[in-house]
Formats: sequence, structure tokens, C-alpha cells
Amino acid sequence: MLPVTLDRTCGEPLPAQLAGQVRTLVLSGTLGTGDRLPSSRALAADLGVSRAVTEQAYDQLTAEGWLEARRGSGTYVATTHPRGVTSRLTRVTSGPTGVTSRPTGATPRPTGATSRLDTGTPFFDPRLESGWRRAWREVSVAAPPRGYDDPRGLRELREALAARLGRTRGLDLHPDEIIVTAGTTDGLRALLPELRHGPVAVEDPGYRAAAETVLTYSREVIDLPAVERVTDLGPAVAAYVTPAHQHPLGRVMPAADRLALLEAARRADAVVIEDDYDSEFRYDVAPVPAMARLDRGRVVYLGTAAKSVVPTLRLGWLVAPPDLHELILRRRTITHAGAAWPSQRALLTLLRDGWLDRAVRSARRVYAERAPRVAEAMSPYATLAGPLAGMYSTWLLPETDALRARDAARAAGFEINLLSTYARTSGLTGLVIGFGGVSDAELDQALAAITGALSDR
Ligand SMILES: Cc1ncc(COP(=O)(O)O)c(C=O)c1O
Repeated sequence: MLPVTLDRTCGEPLPAQLAGQVRTLVLSGTLGTGDRLPSSRALAADLGVSRAVTEQAYDQLTAEGWLEARRGSGTYVATTHPRGVTSRLTRVTSGPTGVTSRPTGATPRPTGATSRLDTGTPFFDPRLESGWRRAWREVSVAAPPRGYDDPRGLRELREALAARLGRTRGLDLHPDEIIVTAGTTDGLRALLPELRHGPVAVEDPGYRAAAETVLTYSREVIDLPAVERVTDLGPAVAAYVTPAHQHPLGRVMPAADRLALLEAARRADAVVIEDDYDSEFRYDVAPVPAMARLDRGRVVYLGTAAKSVVPTLRLGWLVAPPDLHELILRRRTITHAGAAWPSQRALLTLLRDGWLDRAVRSARRVYAERAPRVAEAMSPYATLAGPLAGMYSTWLLPETDALRARDAARAAGFEINLLSTYARTSGLTGLVIGFGGVSDAELDQALAAITGALSDR
């Protein structure tokens, strides 16, 4: 019998309560690597809940890497202590000394392309347009603050964000711990000047804007292998990661790797920068909880409205350990950096009205339907790099094939990103296919062009 107690009156769904308590048992060492858990049926009977509750909790913890199911044998605690592959960190680009510095693979804007199958254009449900307009009407009649407002951002917005981050990301936050930003990269820009001198490790392949921003701040970028366990951060003072959905390979960072990275960060006295850009868009299991939950003193959490609303709103949020929070705030108070008030005020209405929750639900439904369509078309020709989640999927292919497919799509009026443009030293090649910003018909046309080119091999 597991030492867990479920509370039917607290409002938190029973599977989430159970998963949370099992996670705590593993983290505290009460459950150790290799321990066998009771079957979902036996545990359900013990707890007096339906089997769906225990199965859902086990599925969730397996997806996060806390548990592993062994066929015909049962469910066990996965290896969660740091061991295994030690990743070599490769230095590729340099900042302060200016020895070598190269751009991190920005793609030139397409000429003549009509639709982008990129990772940055989310689905926008036309049925939600009236709610969107209502939010902006409210902005037009609200009185803006007369002077420079709180550098942390609009108080009511931070309250609404704290409530939502608690509900959706498992983060227990006071509104004053949140700093509203003008998006993920703005959060990174606010953080970088406050870190001690030294390089920043960024996943390779990884988010191009992150590597570029680090370089802009005259810091070296060190390549962090995107899908290996990292046990040593070398001289890095920070590690920029996308644990919920590695950008662009798609993997969920397993629990053991999260703990290993945090341990490596503690040893290096570095921070982990968690870019939590699209974690809400899981279709198989509930979103994987934020890594910041594991160590609020070591993780800087960056959230964004770019995926759940639109990137052009230019809004995000940052939660930093107290010392960094104070430094960021001090500088923002002096420089008046921050997010524009109209955007903040509009997002407040979108949150209060439940618009954002509806937008996420409807986009998730669309992505859940489109992702398998892309997979069905692509899998005869290419290898899927990670689990299906979010608004894009990444396909491994030789560069010549990827180029041919990209050119065929371009000729048909669609722009698609090459995986090689996200890679620095990893050398991975293939296609990154976004499916949020096109219609179903356009997606089919683009896939026909791509697979037509690939079948010509
Ligand atoms: C990995 C990743 N992080 C963050 C963002 C959002 O960045 P921002 O909030 O600066 O628009 C994106 C947008 O495409 C992204 O791909």
C-alpha cells in the first residue's frame, strides 16, 4: 500500500493529487529506483477510487520519466539518480573576447511564400474573435496608470497569472514573485546582465533566439546536447533548456535528467533557465509540471503568451530566485523596461473571461488532430524526433532530402524550416513542420508537396 491520501473536497483532480504524491515519495527517497508499484487495479481498490484515476496518474508519471512500465511485469520507479551519459559541452561561439562569433542560423524571410508552416504561428480559433474584441474594448475605456507603473507589471494581471500558473503548471506563486515581461526573450534580456560573468549553455539544437540573445549580451554560448543527460555544466553560469518540449526535437526531459541538470547547476553555482513555451499543448497526458517546481532557488522560469494567445501581443512572465528577482527589478525600475500596459490590460481580461483557457483547449484539439496527420504523411520517409506534442513536429532526414522537400513546399507556396538551421555543432538535419498557422486544406497541400519530393528519391 502506498502512503498516499486523496482528498475529494480540495478541488484538485484525483489523478493529479495521486501523481503529485507519488512524485514526492520518489523525490524524498521513500520510493527508490527499481521499487515496484502496486498494480493500478490494486491501488485503485486500496484507495477506493476508479481504476481510471490510478491509470491516469501512472501514465502521467511514466510520460514524465518518474515511473517505467515493464511489459508483463508491472510499473517500477525509474532511475532518478544522476548517472549515465555525461554530456560533453562544446564551446562554439564566443562573446566578450570576440574570437569567433557567428549567427545562430536565422533563416532569411521567404520570398513569394504565402503560408508559413513554422513553430511560431499558433492556431487562432475564429469563434474566439468576439472575446478578443471585447478585451480590447475594455482596454479602450480603462484608464492607464498616469506614471511609470509597478516594474513587476500590472498587479491584477500578476494575480491572475499566479492563479493560472498554480493550476496549469503546478507553481505555487505569490503575485509579487512574477515579473511581467514582453515575452521570453525579453525575460532572458532582463536576466543576462544580472548573472555573474561567464558563458551560457544553450541546447543544441535549440531555440535560436536564446542563443542569439546570449551572444548579443557578449557572452559565450556553450552547446548543451539537447537529448542527453547533462551531469556537468563546465564553466557555464546558466543553462537554457526547454524541458516540457525540447525545441525543436520535441522530447520531454525525463525526471532523472531534470534532477541531474539541477545537481550539475548546484555544483557549478549556475542557474537553470526554463523556457516553458508550449507546455500546455500535450494531447496524450496532462502537461508535464514545470521544472521550477523542483528547485525554486535554482531555476529561472520563463513563460510566454506567444503560443497560447499570439506572439504579437509581446507578453511573457518571469519567476526568478529572490536574489536575481531583486536585481532584475532594480534595473527595470531604473530603465523603465517592461511590457506595454495595453497588452497587459488586454491579457488580464482574456484571463478573467476564461478566454485563454478556451483558446488553449480549442488549439489543443486542433493540434491533436493535425499532429497524427503530419505523422501519417511523413513517417514513410523520415524519423520522428520526439513524441507528438505542441504545434510542430520534427523529422530527421538527410540534408539533401530536407532541402528538396523544403524547395518543393516553397514552390507550392509554403515555407518550412530546416532542422539544420537550429543546430550548431550537433549537425542534425531534417524538417521542422509547424501546423498551427495554416488551414487543414493548406496543411494537406504542403504535406503533398513535401511527400511528393521525398518519394522521388
Ligand atoms: C522555444 C521557444 N521559446 C519561446 C518562444 C516565444 O518567445 P517570445 O515570448 O519572446 O515571443 C518561442 C516562439 O516561437 C519558442 O519557439
